[in-house]
Amino acid sequence: MKNVLVTGGAGYIGSVVARYLEDKGYNPIYCDNLSTGNIWAVPDHFYREDIKNTPRIVEILQKHDIDGVLHFAAYSQVGESVSNPGKYYSNNVGGTLSLLNAMTEAGCSKLVFSSTAAVYGNPLHIPITEEHPLQPVNPYGKSKYFVEEMIRDYADTFNISAVIFRYFNAAGTYKERGEWHDPETHLIPNIYRACQNDKPFYLFGTDYETHDGTCIRDFINVEDLASAHYLGLQQLSQETGVEIFNLGTGKGNSVKEVVEEAKRFLPHPIKIKVKPPRSGDPPILVADYSRAKKLLGWTPQKNLTDSIRECFEYLGKRFAHLSSR
Ligand SMILES: NC(=O)c1ccc[n+]([C@@H]2O[C@H](COP(=O)([O-])OP(=O)(O)OC[C@H]3O[C@@H](n4cnc5c(N)ncnc54)[C@H](O)[C@@H]3O)[C@@H](O)[C@H]2O)c1
Repeated sequence: MKNVLVTGGAGYIGSVVARYLEDKGYNPIYCDNLSTGNIWAVPDHFYREDIKNTPRIVEILQKHDIDGVLHFAAYSQVGESVSNPGKYYSNNVGGTLSLLNAMTEAGCSKLVFSSTAAVYGNPLHIPITEEHPLQPVNPYGKSKYFVEEMIRDYADTFNISAVIFRYFNAAGTYKERGEWHDPETHLIPNIYRACQNDKPFYLFGTDYETHDGTCIRDFINVEDLASAHYLGLQQLSQETGVEIFNLGTGKGNSVKEVVEEAKRFLPHPIKIKVKPPRSGDPPILVADYSRAKKLLGWTPQKNLTDSIRECFEYLGKRFAHLSSR
């Protein structure tokens, strides 16, 4: 059984991918400082540790004879990155630098990194291919872009092989693991939270140049993200160098369309309040995932409806659990 280190394993996508890999015969070792993650999302083999603590990460890598690292640990709120860029550069760039140094020292040479569609900035064409120019428009996107560059340099110098995944909008659940952030900034859970808390749902911007005036996003189910990570790990066993893949469905849905679909699964109606557009929100982000399809044999299996239904079931259970305490 291969041991893999999952940084950010108490967070949404990290906890899901770790669980999926467990089902595929891997042994995930979790590392998370719990800054935005949840202690109840991780089972055994959990280290409450910050990836910036290089000597400690070296120890963990060596102790468990780690075969590969899946690196999810990061801050990821666009708005916060604009108001507090240092927090993002310190954690996302500084944290990854520490991790890369620890990997080099421990002789661990395989990395899967969670990047984002935010590295593209305002798209020049849709769907977005990996060759699209990288022009991030906020510190979050820039921090991920800098990390991608660092990974290329470490790969060249230290023979690290890496897969970089640029996720579009993650949604849905896998085996009782799902999305629970405080504050929550993502669309689908926020629709449910507004309904649950009997608060208005805020819709940011209705004058975008799209068919209904609201932003269009590509919602990729988190189980599909997990299967890509599994295939990415196989790829790392065969190849060296850096490979980059978009992970999305190739299909966009507007915010209004998502709200309409979500209404079918909500326990009661929601009030919608229109707010001005948020700065740095591009009108349309849709992935071209043909590279992942061709080279990894990856095709997403789930659709928006699956993701909404799974997310709402998960949140329903969590709120019921909290109110029963
Ligand atoms: N959720 C999305 O739609 C999405 C889209 C594109 C990219 N991403 C990227 O995917 C990754 C996971 O996203 P998520 O939605 O699961 O976020 P998340 O906040 O749920 O998970 C991130 C985890 O990393 C941990 N962490 C942060 N800094 C750390 C540090 N210095 N040391 C140790 N642990 C640390 C947090 O406590 C948290 O558990 C992030 O890198 C994010 O940028 C997410």
